[in-house]
Amino acid sequence: MRVRETPGLTFDDVLLVPKRSPIASRSAVDTSAQLSRRIKLAIPLISANMDTVTEANMAIAIARVGGMGAIHRFLTIERQAAEVARVKRAESYVVEFPAMIAPDASVSEARHQLVELGIGGLLVTNPQGILLGLVTNRDVLLAPDPLGPVSSVMTPRTELITLTTSGPQCDDLERARELLHKHRIEKLPLLNDRGETIGLVTAQDIIKHEQFPLATKDSKGRLCVAAAVGVRPGDLHRSEACVTAGTDALVVDIAHGHSDHAIAVVRELKASFPNTEIIAGNVATGSGVEDLVEAGADAVKVGVGSGSICTTRIVTGFGVPQLTAIMDCALAARSLGVPIIADGGIRNGGDLTKALAAGADTAMIGSLLAGTEESPGASVVRDGQRFKIVRGMASLSANIERKMVEKGGEVDLVDWEQVVPEGVEALVPYRGTVIDLLHQLVGGLRSGMSYAGAANLDELHENAEFIRITGAGMRESNAHDVETIG
Ligand code: XMP
Repeated sequence: MRVRETPGLTFDDVLLVPKRSPIASRSAVDTSAQLSRRIKLAIPLISANMDTVTEANMAIAIARVGGMGAIHRFLTIERQAAEVARVKRAESYVVEFPAMIAPDASVSEARHQLVELGIGGLLVTNPQGILLGLVTNRDVLLAPDPLGPVSSVMTPRTELITLTTSGPQCDDLERARELLHKHRIEKLPLLNDRGETIGLVTAQDIIKHEQFPLATKDSKGRLCVAAAVGVRPGDLHRSEACVTAGTDALVVDIAHGHSDHAIAVVRELKASFPNTEIIAGNVATGSGVEDLVEAGADAVKVGVGSGSICTTRIVTGFGVPQLTAIMDCALAARSLGVPIIADGGIRNGGDLTKALAAGADTAMIGSLLAGTEESPGASVVRDGQRFKIVRGMASLSANIERKMVEKGGEVDLVDWEQVVPEGVEALVPYRGTVIDLLHQLVGGLRSGMSYAGAANLDELHENAEFIRITGAGMRESNAHDVETIG
C-alpha cells in the first residue's frame, strides 16, 4: 500500500492565471486538434457513446460544426451499423452508391425506403444499373395508388438532366454545380458512357459543403463518425459491421481500460482493421496510456468516475480526480505522440478550457449534449420547464434494458437484484440545438485561449499556469451576493 503525497485535483480546485495576450479577438484563435493519430477536428469535441447522447442525428450535427460523434453500442449490431451508415450517407461530394429502386417496386415501398434512409430521392434503375428515372418525396407523398409501380410516378430518364463522366472527379463537381443551377434541379445522376449509374451529386450536398466549412469529413466528403464496441468475443462482429458501414473510428468502450482483456481487444482490433482509428479507454494513469498505445491505440480516453452520471468512485472507491488524471496521462501520451481525450465531468467552457490546458487534446461530452434537440429520446416537461433524460450506461435502468434485450423481453427479480449500478439516471435542462450549445461552449474556450495568450491549443497548454483555489475562491468565481434572475 502507498499513499500519493500530492492531492488529486479536479476542475473546481483550480483556475487558470491570466497572461499577457497578443490575441485581439477571440475569433482569431485556432481550436483545431487531433482526435486520434489520423483524425483532425476543427473543434476539440466528441459526443459520448451513451444511449441518451449519440445516435446518427447527434453525430451528424456535431460533425457538421467540426467535432465528431461516437455512436453508442447498446443497439443491435444491425441498427448500430445502420446509424453509422446514416451519418456516412448524410452528405458527400459525390454519393458513390446512391439508393436505387426497381421500376416495378410499389410506391409505398419507395416511401418506406425514403423514410428509412432519411433521403429525398431514389434512382430508378434496371438490374444492370441503367438509369430509368428518378422518384422523389414529392412524387410519392400524395400519390393516389400506393400499390402502383414506381414507374408510374417517377420522372423518366428522358426528362432528367445527367452528367456523363468516366468516374467522379473534382472537375465534375464544378460542372455539376453549373448544371444543377442552370436547370434549377436538386439531383444530378452521374452516368458512365454505357448509361450505368456511377454516382449522384445533390444540391443539398453542395449547399451543406458551403454552409459548414469546418465539418469533419473523410476524403470523399462524407462526415466522420466513430462507433463504440465492447470487449466480448461477439463484439468483433459488431466492429466488422461498423467498419463495413464506414465508421472512421472504433471506440473500445470499457470502464476499466487498463485491463488485460481491453489491451488484448485493442491489439486485435488494430490488427483486424488497420485503416480504422482505434480509440481505447478509459484510463486515469500514465501507465494505462502507455499500455494501450503499445497495444495499438490511436487515441486514449481519460476519465474514471469523472462523468456527471457516474457513481463508480462511490461504489468501488476507485478513480483519479479528472484534472490530475489528464495531466498524468498527457505526460505519457505526448512522448508517445498519441492524443488523449478528456472524458467526463465537463459542465461549461471553463472546464473545457482547463481540460485542454492540462494537456488533453480533445474532450468527450455526455450530459451537456444529452440536453440538446439532437440527442436520442424524448423530452419531458416538469413544472413548465423542458428537460431531457440522461443515464449512465452502468445505471440500473440501462443494465436492466440490456438484460431484457439479451433475454428477449423478460427479466425476473434475480436479474434486478444482481445489478450493481455504477451510474444514475437523471434529468438535464433542454438546451436547444447542438449548434447553440457548442456556440456557448466553444465561445468560452475561445475566450479562455485569449486570456492565456494562446493562438492555438498547443500554446494554451504551453502557457497554462494553474492556481489552486479554496472553497472561498470557488464561491467568488460564481455569481455571488446577488439574487440572480436569469
Ligand atoms: P459527462 O460528465 O460528460 O460524462 O456526462 C460522460 C462520460 O461518463 C462516462 N459514463 C459512465 N461512467 N458509470 C460511470 O462510472 C456510468 O454509468 C457511465 N455512463 C457513462 C463515460 O465515460 C461518458 O463518456
